[in-house]
Amino acid sequence: MIDIEKHFGGVRAVEHVSVDLWPGEVVGLLGHNGAGKSCLMKILAGAMAPSSGTIRIAGKPVQFNDPNDARAVGIETIYQTLALADHLDAPANLFLGRELKTRFGNLDEAAMLKGAEEVIARLNPNFKNLRDPVSRLSGGQRQVIAIARAIYFDTRILIMDEPTAALGPSETAMVADLIRKLRAEGIGIFLVSHDMHDVFDLCDRVVVMNKGKVVGAHRIDEVTKDDVLSLIIKGELPADWSARNLETAE
Ligand SMILES: Nc1ncnc2c1ncn2[C@@H]1O[C@H](COP(=O)(O)OP(=O)(O)O)[C@@H](O)[C@H]1O
Ligand SMILES: [Mg+2]
Repeated sequence: MIDIEKHFGGVRAVEHVSVDLWPGEVVGLLGHNGAGKSCLMKILAGAMAPSSGTIRIAGKPVQFNDPNDARAVGIETIYQTLALADHLDAPANLFLGRELKTRFGNLDEAAMLKGAEEVIARLNPNFKNLRDPVSRLSGGQRQVIAIARAIYFDTRILIMDEPTAALGPSETAMVADLIRKLRAEGIGIFLVSHDMHDVFDLCDRVVVMNKGKVVGAHRIDEVTKDDVLSLIIKGELPADWSARNLETAE
């Protein structure tokens, strides 16, 4: 994303933001409420039009009129709410809006069940109750479906907005494990998170936004949690950061 801007009247939600994401890379996107994280991610997902700026996917400029345009080039989003249909089972949720059809135009239930089984087994081999309505599943299993839905369709970029906010500790660990699997498959992930532990555990880089601007973009091994907090709160690194990093670079 190159020089992206988003204005709402006088509100500058996103100002001259450039970020990149490589295959198999997890980039943490951090910042206070109102920093512009969601706007930036909605722009990438095709859910919001930028006021100006360019998006390139594998070098090619793209323009999204809606989320389907973004999906067509492999960009998927998992929202905090997961957006699952509670009364439907896992296969129906996985293919919601993109149902597989037989050559006669009927729903191809068998193909959808098989597809769901394959992708879900790849993510969590213990997930067996595929035909239950998803309302009966645990938070972690619901996450698996949301992620399966995202990766089934040749995803290259996955946007995860606070994926562990509503989960308990063991389910959070499972989502972390899923993120590692997706990264190993070469998917690039933007992880919007407030959880410093998750960020340092999972991310290759962090990008911090403050009042619409990127105030820091760093490899995770060149910053501490305190450095990142300083970027979030003050919009700048602590004064001693360069000195510390010159030492470690020797
Ligand atoms: N649809 C909208 N209309 C007007 N202002 C918006 C809209 N969406 C976001 N904003 C404003 O843009 C700024 C950035 O918001 P957002 O991207 O949601 O921040 P974050 O996700 O970092 O909390 C905020 O000031 C917010 O109020
Ligand atoms: Mg937000």
